[in-house]
Amino acid sequence: MDFNEENSADVVVASLSTMREEDARLKEILTSAIRHMHAFVRETRLTTAEWEAGIEFLTAVGQTCTDTRQEFILFSDSMGVSMLVETINGAEGEIREWDDLSPTASTVMGPFHMTVSPERQLGDLINDTGRGEPLVVEGSVTDLEGNPLAGARVDTWQSDGEGFYDVQVDYLPPGTGRGVFTTDEGGYFWYRSVMPRHYPMPVDGPGGALVVREGRDIYRPAHLHFIAEADGYQSLTTHAFVSDCPYIERDVVFAVKRSLIRDFVTIDDPEEAARFGVASPFRHVRFDIVLAPSETTVESGYQGVQT
Ligand code: BEZ
Ligand code: FE
Repeated sequence: MDFNEENSADVVVASLSTMREEDARLKEILTSAIRHMHAFVRETRLTTAEWEAGIEFLTAVGQTCTDTRQEFILFSDSMGVSMLVETINGAEGEIREWDDLSPTASTVMGPFHMTVSPERQLGDLINDTGRGEPLVVEGSVTDLEGNPLAGARVDTWQSDGEGFYDVQVDYLPPGTGRGVFTTDEGGYFWYRSVMPRHYPMPVDGPGGALVVREGRDIYRPAHLHFIAEADGYQSLTTHAFVSDCPYIERDVVFAVKRSLIRDFVTIDDPEEAARFGVASPFRHVRFDIVLAPSETTVESGYQGVQT
């Protein structure tokens, strides 16, 4: 087949015909990617200079990645692609109204889960730098019937009171603002930290620079990240968003779901503060996590346990 503008995608797709049977899914994905890329080039009448600029951009994205920085995730997040993948594959707390029988909604992982979080004991202080209002986080991990999941792993990471993660600044020792907690017999976990703050996505790399050029808001609303895992249950990647954050309605990565917004209430009570081992006043949030069993398919809304 001669290669021309009309048949270009067909020619390339035909070259995949020798792919192995076990690569059927890869073939399906490549076929679609080829057809969309060729359609995109035709539709935009992409010039050679623009093609080169695209290659340079993607090269710079790759070259910006390090062991602690993931520029491709940042790029995917800011284009809304990460959130679309989450929306298709993850638990969706917003379609069903929040109740004890809905799995907690998932949202993007973001680029800052690049280091291993330290194992922590319940009640530990995960940011002892004093930068930020004291915060107490309490929560539980349960199944869809509300039964506690003892021994569940709750991995959390967050920015500090100035909007930085440990991997971004020298003043935060590695592991600050991170921890892996194991729930107790009641499925309960708690820890102490500081209030996270809204922060700009990093704009010193090509992914962020593109968002600036687009003239968009570059901020993420204040949040805590969680990955919750328990044997026999679908692992969940999610956030708890701070309800009174000024950026709650305009997240640069489109990741806010209504069911994940929480009031981080101010408690000005020395006795309560002493009970948790923090200074008064402090902020307090409760974040209960509901996991779906692994044999369940959660597409657009929980559809019941399949038997
Ligand atoms: C984050 O939540 O850590 C994040 C997500 C996307 C872009 C930048 C940061
Ligand atoms: Fe974050």
